[in-house]
Amino acid sequence: MSQTKAEQTQLRERMVGGLRSQDEGTNVQLAGWVHRRRDLGGLVFVDLRDRSGLIQVSFGPDWANEEVFRIAHDLSHEDVIAIEGKVELRPEASQNADLATGAVEVKATRIEVLSNAKTPAIPVYRAPEDQLSAEELRLQHRVLDLRRSELQANLILRHKLVLTARNYLDRLGFVEVETPILTKATPEGARDYLVPSRVHRGEFYALPQSPQLYKQILMVAGFDRYFQIARCFRDEDQRADRQPEFTQIDVEASFVEPDDILVWMEGLVSAMADVAGIDAPLPFPRMTWADAMERFGSDRPDLRFNLEIQDWTQKTKDIDSHIIQSQIKAGGRVRGLRLDGGSQLSRKQIETIEERAKDTGAPGLLWAKYNEGSLSGPLGRFLTVETAEAIGLRVGDLAIAAAGPDRLTSPALAAARIGAANALGLAHEREHSWLWVTDFPVFDEEDGELSASHHPFVMPHQDDFELLETDPGAVRGTAYDLVYNGTEFGSGSIRVHQPELQRRILRALGLDDVEIEEKFGFLLEALHAGAPPHGGIALGLDRMVQRFTGSGSLRDVIAFPKTTAARALYEGAPTRIGESELKDLALQVTTSCKRE
Ligand code: AMO
Repeated sequence: MSQTKAEQTQLRERMVGGLRSQDEGTNVQLAGWVHRRRDLGGLVFVDLRDRSGLIQVSFGPDWANEEVFRIAHDLSHEDVIAIEGKVELRPEASQNADLATGAVEVKATRIEVLSNAKTPAIPVYRAPEDQLSAEELRLQHRVLDLRRSELQANLILRHKLVLTARNYLDRLGFVEVETPILTKATPEGARDYLVPSRVHRGEFYALPQSPQLYKQILMVAGFDRYFQIARCFRDEDQRADRQPEFTQIDVEASFVEPDDILVWMEGLVSAMADVAGIDAPLPFPRMTWADAMERFGSDRPDLRFNLEIQDWTQKTKDIDSHIIQSQIKAGGRVRGLRLDGGSQLSRKQIETIEERAKDTGAPGLLWAKYNEGSLSGPLGRFLTVETAEAIGLRVGDLAIAAAGPDRLTSPALAAARIGAANALGLAHEREHSWLWVTDFPVFDEEDGELSASHHPFVMPHQDDFELLETDPGAVRGTAYDLVYNGTEFGSGSIRVHQPELQRRILRALGLDDVEIEEKFGFLLEALHAGAPPHGGIALGLDRMVQRFTGSGSLRDVIAFPKTTAARALYEGAPTRIGESELKDLALQVTTSCKRE
């Protein structure tokens, strides 16, 4: 079927975006919105818009009768109209090279107003120099905001990416299975959104934070390869890269090793990137978590630029700095970054970098400028030229260092690395950086408290099984993350498929046998039913579309997003509910619920 045939409906013949000079002389029936209307010397010009683009429609006394001309004259922005007319070449001087249809116009002979629009609260038509309205206003009037071509392009690309993913996974034999939305809490580390049960008063469903347990159960049930474009819900503090409800490309497979998942997924992501015009050459580089933390201080390093952290402990251990001496004595290390040509940075720029580092919880940074014959700065004044050169500094360099336990210095140096790269203009040496970070630890340990670093179902490395009870913080997991330009795109692992090992991990996390049964009894029952070795991953679709479209916010790639305060401004959610509904649900609201 030709494109124009596919576009045809009972009310219109084709869409506007494909009209070109080859269509000259043809009669067309079009329909859409009045993007913009201008009266010029007895002629009316309307930019007619539909999803495919814009076309100039002109109404003049020579080809439109009086009634048609009068209706055109009275049109308002965003009215919905149907027109009929002849495609003609525009005179050369009035062709619009910025518009795909800019060589032609339609001279209208007929018009019907299908629907009137009141004056839009935010403009859909903007002159190139006009700013976008404030985001809150745009979210309140999302129906108009969604008419913007940028948002339409984002959502259309999103559709194409999902289609690519579905087709790719289908070709590999993955089966899409829907899992419940009204479910039982699964732990991904955030709070659950809860839904009260009317039938079982006092009891609650949880909306899924992810389909994690269901996909594992599907593996035990023999589905072998599962995927789902899955909606997930997490009640957590909102950040720029988070929404309370978001979408994962969720994948699980049986009889696999990490390598199977990584190879399939990088093929999938590369195919999706290709659709978006983003370079993603295969295979993606891999780095262990320990290596990433040592060299970049982060489990999601941005490798668009090199800049590695170095260990200067040995070379600085004898210098006369109290901070360095005391931190080394307490078992800490001195690590730092050598910034080629960094001595040109001003004190103010260095302070800005230091602020970023302090935001991670570190007390501060030490720095040294190495200029011809002189060393300066809080670290520089303790360094001799010999020590400076021993740690690799050259004239013109800046050293930024942190002394202390890795737990504090790694995030501080990771933040300093990004800050310094921005200040020195290194940040975009390469356009795209793809990376697998592998072998994450199974547990995070803070102040003696263990929590699951991904979730409690990650299979530990076989060699580390015996550390589960003796040194759990050192247990490496078969977990991997996909990182694109410093953003975590996806996360997964091989799972525990032996019920006894799963119990040991849950016990290490501080759960007693009663809690284990209550929370994870259904998973353990599945594992007792004959579970294949299995593993998988979930890719964050919203983040991928955001990065691929270069959008400033996840909200620009979701049709109806929430604000950072987790509100839906268009439809106005959440809302208070009436007394009788509360009563039906056996609920009582005790705090005063003022809107913030
Ligand atoms: P995880 O919690 O790491 O893993 O989530 C996987 C990916 O989902 C995206 N993501 C989000 N995107 C937008 N807003 C959010 N609030 C948000 N939270 C997460 C990220 C992240 O990498 N069940 C496991 C996966 C598995 O082990 O298979 C899980 O959900 O891109």
